[in-house]
Amino acid sequence: MADAAAEMDAIYRVQRHIYDASRKYYLLGRDGLLDSLAPPPSGSILEIGCGTGRNLILAAQRYPSARCFGFDVSRAMLETAEASVAKAGLQHSIQLEQADAALFDAKSVFGMDGFDRVFISYALSMIPPWRAALERAFQAVKPGGSLHVVDFGEQSRLPQTFRAGLRAWLRKFSVEPRAELEGELRRLAADTGAVLVFERPFRDYACRAILTKPAVASGHNFSDHQRGQ
Ligand SMILES: C[S@@+](CC[C@H](N)C(=O)[O-])C[C@H]1O[C@@H](n2cnc3c(N)ncnc32)[C@H](O)[C@@H]1O
Repeated sequence: MADAAAEMDAIYRVQRHIYDASRKYYLLGRDGLLDSLAPPPSGSILEIGCGTGRNLILAAQRYPSARCFGFDVSRAMLETAEASVAKAGLQHSIQLEQADAALFDAKSVFGMDGFDRVFISYALSMIPPWRAALERAFQAVKPGGSLHVVDFGEQSRLPQTFRAGLRAWLRKFSVEPRAELEGELRRLAADTGAVLVFERPFRDYACRAILTKPAVASGHNFSDHQRGQ
């Protein structure tokens, strides 16, 4: 975790102060993701790579009976998130911790068996071992719950010059859109009996997914996949 934390702290130590004001113009689809959460009454919501806490604060305000949890690998981002959560008076609704998404275990970090809703907003594109992070995220979803993802898409329906410029600019922040995300989600759905909805909104500027776990575990599971069966 130390390397990932140091890299993210280096990117965000200064950026975090202008993060919320600047990112609202290009992290598209975050509010739609929050709309889609609709947790059950008194349900639990986890954000992976919660950054400044912007999404968690909106989720806690929108779903006041929910218990919200978030983690990030960057201590600097968490300091901003903690201050924002306190300013919003939501310390009792939102628990924040430092953890690495690729190694995440719900029990050891939060003492939870799982969450009704887990979401990842524009973080998989910054996590080199993103497949491991995705599997850990889906493992943290309770039976019958759902994993919600929004991130950069392939920009396939936008002008090539825009796509090239955006990609070059994102690379400066260690951001790499995951071209294989849809395929990886389809594999998770096939392996576990989950239902996947995958969309490419804003002319494929972004992609968003909802992967709903069956209420009762199917015959296949992660252990099968991880053992290579
Ligand atoms: C682009 S920001 C998105 C923040 C927030 N989710 C949002 O939508 O505004 C990506 C976040 O992922 C975090 N991150 C990167 N690698 C991570 C990892 N391995 N584990 C947990 N968080 C990570 C970064 O520190 C950063 O806060």
